Amino acid sequence: MKFLVTGGAGFIGSAVIRFLINETDHQVLNIDKLTYAGHLESLTPISDSDRYQFVHGDICDAALMQQIVDEFKPDRIMHLAAESHVDRSVDAPGEFIETNIIGTFNLLNAARKHFEDSGNQDFLFHHISTDEVFGSLGDEGFFTEETRYDPRSPYSASKASSDHLVRAWGETYGLPIVVTNCSNNYGHYQFPEKLIPLMIMNTYNQKSLPVYGDGSNVRDWLHVDDHARALYLVVTEGKPGETYNIGGKNEKTNLDVVQTICDLMESFNPPARDFAYRDLITHVTDRPGHDFRYAIDTSKIERELGWQPQETFESGIEKTVEWYLSNQAWCEAVSKDYSQERLGLKTVK
Ligand code: NAD
Ligand code: DAU
Repeated sequence: MKFLVTGGAGFIGSAVIRFLINETDHQVLNIDKLTYAGHLESLTPISDSDRYQFVHGDICDAALMQQIVDEFKPDRIMHLAAESHVDRSVDAPGEFIETNIIGTFNLLNAARKHFEDSGNQDFLFHHISTDEVFGSLGDEGFFTEETRYDPRSPYSASKASSDHLVRAWGETYGLPIVVTNCSNNYGHYQFPEKLIPLMIMNTYNQKSLPVYGDGSNVRDWLHVDDHARALYLVVTEGKPGETYNIGGKNEKTNLDVVQTICDLMESFNPPARDFAYRDLITHVTDRPGHDFRYAIDTSKIERELGWQPQETFESGIEKTVEWYLSNQAWCEAVSKDYSQERLGLKTVK
């Protein structure tokens, strides 16, 4: 089949494309704007494949999206392109509204015309979304596919909005769609603004480790390759019109995660005798509107599609720390314009 993937130079998109090229026989067209978060270096392992093509383009360009979809004639669109970092959405929400909402609207229009013109009854539009649309949990409970939407940051509100648009195009125009809502991903090729790669890089460079607030906020961590496998199952075997939640069943406080990284670094990169990586942990001002806890009930995707994550947090985080230590060239290439300044403290832009 022909897969059109948006945002394929990003963290999850590149994992999806590496999976599609390495594990299947499908053709892939990647559309990416190459923002600060998009790096073609993440696709080096597959970029020579004759089943892979890249178009440097912005999903906010409606005419370009229509032209690409009309020419490529995809069987599947996997839509991952987005502004993805919560802290950036606090400081500068405009880009999130443009890319996540208007960009999704453009793709839906292009997909609808292609679906109607081609008569391809097997066509499917897969929107890749987040568990953050469901809001914040207390100590108990899990997000299910029936949980009411309650987004609380500009990022999650823009993703919730795009989820609603996708469902509306399904209901109103009969466009075959599926939506997946996933928990926090981690793993190789993640831009070092997110918690796990930032903490690995900072321990490596012996810089302070900024933990927001008291570090008790909880996230459910999923290895990115397990997410890519889940997305492939959904886009090939999922039922049109349905939503699937995806999560790792790996709930950890942020402080636990940071301490685990420090402990792994003690063995992979032992510091001088009078110093411990945990000494770098610094509690800083909390994120505004910081969601307390996310946790996913994954029983639907397990029951209906037979998906299970292959990595535990312990196996995945160890591989991830090792990968960052062995891939400093990638880290330097992607972070050359990234100053690591603290983001998301409501600095109006
Ligand atoms: P990312 O920030 O690493 O990558 C986003 C990619 O989209 C980049 O390659 C960027 O260049 C591209 N992009 C941004 N704006 C664009 C535009 N206007 N036109 C074309 N390309 C554009 O993001 P990610 O972490 O890989 O997330 C991918 C998707 O998965 C997003 O939709 C995100 O909301 C969702 N998601 C992420 C997580 C997570 O933990 N990272 C969890 C659940 C869902
Ligand atoms: O839940 C899925 C979401 O997970 C995705 O939709 C988002 O695209 C992705 O960015 C992620 O959002 P989070 O806000 O949970 O991820 P982040 O890595 O920014 O932060 C994880 C937790 O760590 C959060 O509670 C804030 C905290 N944190 C983060 C950073 C960057 C710190 O304590 N210190 C930091 O420096």
